[in-house]
Amino acid sequence: MRGMLSPSVMCADLLHLAEEIENLDRLGVEFLHIDFMDNKFVPNITFDTNMVRSFKKPMKNIRRDIHIMAFEPQQFFDAMEIGENDMVSVHLEACEDAHRVLKDIKDRGASPCLAISPDTPVEAVVEYLDEVYAILLMTVYPGFAGQPMAPGSMDKLSALRKLIDESGKNVLIEVDGHVSWNHCGEMRSRGADIFVAGSSSVYGKSYPLEEAVNKFYSLVQ
Ligand code: DX5
Ligand code: ZN
Repeated sequence: MRGMLSPSVMCADLLHLAEEIENLDRLGVEFLHIDFMDNKFVPNITFDTNMVRSFKKPMKNIRRDIHIMAFEPQQFFDAMEIGENDMVSVHLEACEDAHRVLKDIKDRGASPCLAISPDTPVEAVVEYLDEVYAILLMTVYPGFAGQPMAPGSMDKLSALRKLIDESGKNVLIEVDGHVSWNHCGEMRSRGADIFVAGSSSVYGKSYPLEEAVNKFYSLVQ
């Protein structure tokens, strides 16, 4: 299975989002990465729940990959209309009871994912491996696009892949943050499956969108 692409819409041309999404749909990318921030868990705000809900309209084949950087994320699930086909990541560091939140996502027919920030050890996800579709490994500190990779992220990715493989569970790894042209190939070889492509690659202005998407897929075969 080839690596899957999840372009980060907060890095896209925010004045032409419907067109951006239609282009990505046409190019066959698997996901659209939608960052939701509450200005408490991270000191930033991106899209509100109305916008997160509205992204569904222009999508034919792309799945919403909703990355919720907010405390007690389940409070937003109804407003976002979380449902079939969605992949939803919640932060272990932001949930009082992550088991209950992950079950709520699953009960809505969506794919539950657990996100961990750079300072959270990979061992923290072991007790959740039976309940998740993927682990979202933050390779930058959450909250802003355009940041450098957090130190030790590559080794942490390998350690996470090893831990999942040793568990025997079929859990994917999504990497998010400075997934650059130079890094994505090595991330693939270290066990990443889904790639959040933002300002350091697909939205980095070096290539037109179609060329950038095709280049990315060639690097993460
Ligand atoms: C940051 C977000 C990322 C960000 C990635 O908190 O989770 O999705 O948009 O953007 P780059 O690729 O610029 O790090
Ligand atoms: Zn993200």
